[in-house]
Amino acid sequence: MIAHVLISEEAIASRLASLALEIDAAYAGGEIRAVGVLKGSVFFLTDVLKRISTSVSVDFIQVRSYAGTASSGNIQLVHDLSMDIEGKDVLLFEDVIDTGLTLRRILELLSSRHPRSLRIAALLKKRLPENADLPVDFLGFEIGTEFVVGYGLDLDERYRNLPYVAVWKPGT
Ligand code: IMP
Ligand code: MG
Repeated sequence: MIAHVLISEEAIASRLASLALEIDAAYAGGEIRAVGVLKGSVFFLTDVLKRISTSVSVDFIQVRSYAGTASSGNIQLVHDLSMDIEGKDVLLFEDVIDTGLTLRRILELLSSRHPRSLRIAALLKKRLPENADLPVDFLGFEIGTEFVVGYGLDLDERYRNLPYVAVWKPGT
């Protein structure tokens, strides 16, 4: 069940406006290949991209890593990119960095295709020793280790469409 709202719709909107400015400044005059990690990052990606003025093209990748609220530790490529990224300035959009396993695996895969640059935008990063060294270029919010849903984040495919991020707790 939803325990409480952690990040309100207004707080998300205001943080994303700042992130968009940071992204425009970082890529000034360039062209971004935005890559969303399906499905969780879709809400974050579209809301950020609507606010930037840099030229952008969009692609998606999907991996499977989770069942329920625990990492399966087993990451599988479900859907690959539709376009080549060689020589492109790739900006990867991720919903949440938990253990960082998924992101590391995706970074490995994308780096092997020789993009010109590869940066990361994440809506949420959990405060965990495992992911402390992961370089997130554009971060929405750092949160605790609780399981969260909403604004793209799911629990077994539910709750993605909540306009806010909420803490989920087992219960009735
Ligand atoms: P990691 O590999 O442990 O970093 O997990 C990353 C993936 O697990 C994310 O892309 C999410 O799909 C999922 N995930 C991790 N934590 C949460 C959470 O609190 N709520 C919903 N999904 C989560
Ligand atoms: Mg998920």
